[in-house]
Amino acid sequence: MARLTINGKTSEVDVQPSTPLLWAIREQAGLTGTKYGCGIAQCGACTVHVDGKAVRSCVLPVSAAVGKRITTIEGLATNGALHKVQKAWVDHEVPQCGYCQAGMIMAVAALLKEKPRPTDADIDAGITNICRCGTFQQVRQAIHAAAKA
Ligand code: FES
Ligand code: FES
Repeated sequence: MARLTINGKTSEVDVQPSTPLLWAIREQAGLTGTKYGCGIAQCGACTVHVDGKAVRSCVLPVSAAVGKRITTIEGLATNGALHKVQKAWVDHEVPQCGYCQAGMIMAVAALLKEKPRPTDADIDAGITNICRCGTFQQVRQAIHAAAKA
């Protein structure tokens, strides 16, 4: 058992300490917005925030997240108001199939906290998430729009 705080709610999850956080989030907490893509920290579909930093939850053991603040896509909006990245995503119609987008948005939200006005080079270096639908140009535009919001 481990006690995790996800989106401000503390719950007990019945997993081994070495279980990837992704599975505790999806299967124990029932928050299925965070996706499984590669399982080897390459695609970013599983990105969540741990203490405000973007992490790839498919390779982070639950034991490393105990006592930390975990935020998933379901917890990014506050008091019913979309996060500025989510708003920019809607305005720029970024998602295609959508599978990669929760992880993409979480990665971008963390980037903007560190670099409020990222350059294209900052985006290239900071956002390495893979989108099989090729939404990279819309992602870039929406990041610049969110940075100005
Ligand atoms: S599923 Fe975690 S990086 Fe691909
Ligand atoms: S929108 Fe389809 S994989 Fe990114």
